[in-house]
Amino acid sequence: MTRDGRLTGYLAPVDLAHELRDELAAAGVKLARRPLDRLVLSADPPIGAAWAANVWHDVEEIRVTSIGHAAKELRERQRNWAMYSPLHSGRAKLIAEKLPHVSAKPIEIGDVVPDAPLGSFALLEPNLLLAATRCTSPFPNGEARLVEDRDGPPSRAYLKLYEAFVRLRRWPTPDETCLDLGASPGGWTWLLAQTGAAVTAIDKAPLAADVARLPRVRWREGSAFALDPADHPPVDWVCSDIICYPRRLLGLVQRWIDAGTARHLICTIKFQGLTDHGVVREFAAVPGARVLHLHHNKHELTFFWSRPGA
Ligand SMILES: C[S@@+](CC[C@H](N)C(=O)[O-])C[C@H]1O[C@@H](n2cnc3c(N)ncnc32)[C@H](O)[C@@H]1O
Repeated sequence: MTRDGRLTGYLAPVDLAHELRDELAAAGVKLARRPLDRLVLSADPPIGAAWAANVWHDVEEIRVTSIGHAAKELRERQRNWAMYSPLHSGRAKLIAEKLPHVSAKPIEIGDVVPDAPLGSFALLEPNLLLAATRCTSPFPNGEARLVEDRDGPPSRAYLKLYEAFVRLRRWPTPDETCLDLGASPGGWTWLLAQTGAAVTAIDKAPLAADVARLPRVRWREGSAFALDPADHPPVDWVCSDIICYPRRLLGLVQRWIDAGTARHLICTIKFQGLTDHGVVREFAAVPGARVLHLHHNKHELTFFWSRPGA
């Protein structure tokens, strides 16, 4: 059981509840009650679930007598709350209306996540709240809102890298270098170029002409697997959106880490068919790594790693 017998809540991304359920089952996490749609609860010790859009820690059950009372109980705990309430949603909305406003302003390129804690609540019964002050996502229900550019990038794939930098609370700077592996048609390269950093894009396919023309962008034709990280000059950011088997990507990631030539890695782990939860755990077990499902990921996860002290 968790501290004080409290529950942990795992909120699945839209359409990916099966992945979260399978991941929890593979890790031996038992569910404590029937799921509240995408939210599952467990009394077992929390795990770092990659397929969770948000994890609610130390979920409290709070008996209330009215909507006003529920809002008061939440306000007394902290300022910012997000509602996820598939049950009694009309009543939960009335509670949310009595809470302080949480800014939903989309985040711009170069910005990072707000650091004020954001709690989550649901109604289990009309007068029974579930509430967690500590959640893993800084966004309401994990839903990051970003300012989209509909003209510059040739694809919407750049949004997942954008969200990754926001979550990392760090962006490339003009004095830094980036390698974009599997770069075509160039959404990620476009985003990296917006930061002023120098970008080398690697792909068998070319970049869209407008991206290839951007200052400090260079395209090299070839396979990312043909590069030897040990022979590569130091590079600040290695980003990969290559379509390949997760285990092949894990080998590539390990080679970059072992070579010591990269400061940060951000890679998309893509899945086809049945998900190999074992390989996800291997990615997550890399010292200094995190594996998250970002709001802009599809059937894929994002791997983050930074060299110690980088
Ligand atoms: C999902 S797309 C990348 C989209 C890109 N991030 C963007 O924002 O436009 C995947 C790319 O990986 C490339 N690719 C596949 N295998 C590769 C390899 N071994 N080395 C480099 N690129 C590879 C494909 O040619 C394809 O262009």
